[in-house]
Amino acid sequence: MERPGFRGKVVLVLGASGGIGAALVHRLLASGAQVIAAARSPERLAMLAREVEESAQLLTCPVDVRDPQQVADLLSQVWERTGRIDLAIYCAGIEYLGPLKTIGSAELEEMMATNFYGLFFLLQQLLPLMEQQREKGTIVSVSSPMARLAFPWASAYAASKAAGDALLTGLRRECRRSGVRLLTIYPGPTATGAGQQLPPERLPRWHEHGQKMEAGRCAELLLRAVAAGQTQRALTRSLRLLFLLERWLPSLSERICAGMPV
Ligand SMILES: NC(=O)c1ccc[n+]([C@@H]2O[C@H](COP(=O)([O-])OP(=O)(O)OC[C@H]3O[C@@H](n4cnc5c(N)ncnc54)[C@H](OP(=O)(O)O)[C@@H]3O)[C@@H](O)[C@H]2O)c1
Repeated sequence: MERPGFRGKVVLVLGASGGIGAALVHRLLASGAQVIAAARSPERLAMLAREVEESAQLLTCPVDVRDPQQVADLLSQVWERTGRIDLAIYCAGIEYLGPLKTIGSAELEEMMATNFYGLFFLLQQLLPLMEQQREKGTIVSVSSPMARLAFPWASAYAASKAAGDALLTGLRRECRRSGVRLLTIYPGPTATGAGQQLPPERLPRWHEHGQKMEAGRCAELLLRAVAAGQTQRALTRSLRLLFLLERWLPSLSERICAGMPV
């Protein structure tokens, strides 16, 4: 279904080779956007390009968001071709779960570098570019409910996502006169490859047995939230309820979160 809001827009999706990011690319192209899809794996990006019908509107760029130079090269490549970026969606993410003692230092580093540093590098380099544009752009951080609810066995992942939330909140205040919109969006549980690299004994039951949304549906809701322009948006009703509880009834929220089965 075409969304008039994205027709002709230049949209950069980071973390676009699979899961929610790839679903976003499909929907944005169907809406008439010009899309730059970036992720590490050239093979998965090539597969994505083969799947889409609107391939003339798609540019794929391999990038590792953990490297600030690669982020800079990506942005200058896009800038040279298009002269503007209307929307950038930061969807790159890595999820390691499990009891505290099972989280290795390499895993912790990878989560911080992918979920937080990469977002920092993007914001630091893209904000000044967007500020030069006549029509200011929008940068979206795809966060996680864990950033606010931190269920058992997700504490390190939660911390890496919460760092990104704090960064966006601070920058929203710092750049409030710039005209660039900074949005934080919280998908609910979505059926993707996230966490599937982990051995079964590290996957908490709440992660495995809960009902999951299809990635395409998540992308659809996410783009609706971007079009609505709310600075923070949870994509499911149950998440919105949990966030309300966390704010207004913290002791009940604490009991619910702590009781999530592992
Ligand atoms: N699935 C859920 O239930 C859920 C719920 C809430 C929030 N989220 C968030 O949604 C986002 C997308 O998650 P997903 O479920 O779609 O995960 P996914 O299927 O594992 O996709 C993650 C994407 O990030 C890319 N990526 C990972 N490391 C990267 C790096 N260093 N540089 C560039 N790209 C990198 C991956 O591509 P390459 O491997 O090719 O680089 C892939 O395209 C994440 O931020 C996650 O925290 C997911």
